[in-house]
Amino acid sequence: MRIEELSIPESVKEVIIKSGITELYPPQKEAVKAGALEGKNLVLASPTASGKTLIAELCALKHVLEEDGKVLYLTPLRALASEKYQEFKKYAMIRKKSGRRISVGISTGDYDRSDPWLERYDIIVTTNEKADSLLRHRTRWINAISLVVADEVHLLNDADRGPTLEVVLARLMQTNPDAQLLALSATVRNAEEAAEWLKAASITMEWRPVVLKEGVLLHDEAQFRDGDAFKIKKATKDSVINLAMHMVRSGGQALIFAGTRKNSVGVAKRASLTVGPILSKPLKRSLTRVAEQILTSGERTRISESLAELVRHGTAFHHAGLGGAHRKRIEDAFRDGKVKILAATPTLAFGVNLPARMVVIHDYRRYEPGYGYYPITVLEYKQMAGRAGRPRYDKIGEALLIAKTEDERDYLMESYVLAKPERIWSKLAVERILRGHVLATIAADFAHTEQGIYDFFSKTFYAYQYDPHAIKDVIAKILKFLYEEAMIKFSGDDVYATKFGRRISELYIDPVSGVIIRDALLNRAPLLADISFLHMIAHMPDMYPKLRPYSREIDELALLVEEHRDEFMMDVPNEWADRIAYEEFLGEAKLAWVLGSWIKEITEDGIIEKFRVQPGDLYRLIATGRWLLYASHEIAALFGHKDLLPNLTELTERMQKGVKKELLPLVRLEGIGRVRARILHNTGLKTISDLKTAPLEKLVGLPLIGPKLAKKIKEQVGGFVKQKDWKKLKSKKSLEQQALTKY
Ligand SMILES: Nc1ncnc2c1ncn2[C@@H]1O[C@H](COP(=O)(O)OP(=O)(O)OP(=O)(O)O)[C@@H](O)[C@H]1O
Ligand SMILES: [Mg+2]
Repeated sequence: MRIEELSIPESVKEVIIKSGITELYPPQKEAVKAGALEGKNLVLASPTASGKTLIAELCALKHVLEEDGKVLYLTPLRALASEKYQEFKKYAMIRKKSGRRISVGISTGDYDRSDPWLERYDIIVTTNEKADSLLRHRTRWINAISLVVADEVHLLNDADRGPTLEVVLARLMQTNPDAQLLALSATVRNAEEAAEWLKAASITMEWRPVVLKEGVLLHDEAQFRDGDAFKIKKATKDSVINLAMHMVRSGGQALIFAGTRKNSVGVAKRASLTVGPILSKPLKRSLTRVAEQILTSGERTRISESLAELVRHGTAFHHAGLGGAHRKRIEDAFRDGKVKILAATPTLAFGVNLPARMVVIHDYRRYEPGYGYYPITVLEYKQMAGRAGRPRYDKIGEALLIAKTEDERDYLMESYVLAKPERIWSKLAVERILRGHVLATIAADFAHTEQGIYDFFSKTFYAYQYDPHAIKDVIAKILKFLYEEAMIKFSGDDVYATKFGRRISELYIDPVSGVIIRDALLNRAPLLADISFLHMIAHMPDMYPKLRPYSREIDELALLVEEHRDEFMMDVPNEWADRIAYEEFLGEAKLAWVLGSWIKEITEDGIIEKFRVQPGDLYRLIATGRWLLYASHEIAALFGHKDLLPNLTELTERMQKGVKKELLPLVRLEGIGRVRARILHNTGLKTISDLKTAPLEKLVGLPLIGPKLAKKIKEQVGGFVKQKDWKKLKSKKSLEQQALTKY
């Protein structure tokens, strides 16, 4: 089936054909035959790289151009959301009936907002969490949505991400019963079951445009499922590196999946020793430029330094601990073919298109704290393997697992390479997860009666797969809790949320966290200090990951807790009566000190070293910390704790910027981060008016501040820049590069 023959607007055909696509792939053809372009609900389950997105694009454009419709595109991860947003952008030149161009928006951020500005867009790309929060705010434009695309819908099976996706889909089916639903899935055994739940037709097809050869490497021999095999050169002791080098020498790029962040860094380091020496001079120069860009964006830490160093040698690592700017640079450098070997954690396993001719799966086991090692699912394996051999980049792909013994090779062949993906199972019925969703169902008016709540949850995938009574018991227990904590009220048959309940739901925090804030603000510590609030948020279930004290830290932490006993919002558990609770408390205190160090301007490296936290975890703690402080402020306002509001506003902002109070006026300026603000402050430029009167020359003379930034500062503070001075300075190019990015 040719693109030209499709019943879609000519303008869309033009864009697609121009991008090099002229013929539909077989799964795409089946989707069209099943009525995808006529508004039929559909679950399309097909292998990685089989072009599921194009079907979503065709449907979306048809909705926008022919029906004046609106499209919501749901993705599980921010990185994928931005890739899809970029893909939709290529249609943004097309004009609609009204004469206006198609507009594409993306929203993945802040959860306490209804984002009315999104109303302007025809196609909106979001993460599942963001969509959930928008539904909680009852955003008006949700009603206008005529097509919902759910990408990577097999993640219903994922304990972390599944429940939110499930609730979002159930809610959208309730609010927009007439909207078309298009769910894109990996091939799973029970796609029909998901389809029945979604009242959709289902297509499952095993077809991939690019051959993906899957196999296992043992020592120096790679063996594929089709019987093919090859030997690799034993250049180093590390067979993973030898394998990846085999690919690089033949002109390809390799993506290595490691189980942990630490391993991803280790693998990249080892790879750099062998990749570095074989790079051409022009490529090296180009890599040096990328390395410099990495060093001048974001805070300079040991992590960014080691990343830059690796990039110089044509290798890199990629994990959630990298800042967004660094991650993007690495993805781009790999896409451009500059980075030859990329070692990543599984965050790069979903949906993305990368030029990896070879994928190496370094660890098929994953470590879960408190649980130990467990083997990944076939579904996860398929997602990782499927990053290799993407149509836009390669004619063939190879994916290899690593075995150490013959037994292990047989096991891996059997359990992954030749295995079929599992069934997917709903993970919704866990009390901790359901709590927030039950409250939101009431607070955002998805149900008005107890029966209405049961009815809503009886339409979830969980209820479809299991006995609905099982979930009823959990919900009844949650309702009792919400009632006792005054988040909901009953009046006859009706149930409604109190102001408190509604605010908790909008703030997107666990109801238990809401109770912690309310009680802490009421009972207060005898002595209020920063640590009072920081420990309060560390105590909340939303604060994640929890930190455990190392045994060598226990004495020091116990001492600190003792010293600050009067500053905690809750009683310190008795060390002798309840050792477990006491150590948990020490862990929370540690987390509070980590956050406290951040807002006292301790460097990231300093914190990482002292507390032994992973850099990625530190970012996550800071972001969550800011969010929970903001939520605390909102709850404080609700309960009339006016005296605490300035305190909480200030802490929230300090958490976001990582500064002491005195730097706040400076870091509010664009281009000024914590490091530059400290430099300014230390030279006596402490206020906006100091900056206003300071000569431009003085600003430029400071470390990390170049002419462009100096001018930008002056413009922001309302200072006057003389043409003559500016010209003189502009010629001083030397510091410019460092100054361009926020430090
Ligand atoms: N009919 C086609 N002809 C040529 N190329 C195509 C066609 N359809 C899609 N492609 C290209 O195939 C690549 C893979 O498509 P896409 O990302 O949609 O795969 P997918 O099925 O969503 O895979 P995954 O499960 O990994 O997310 C894209 O680069 C896309 O541009
Ligand atoms: Mg996809």
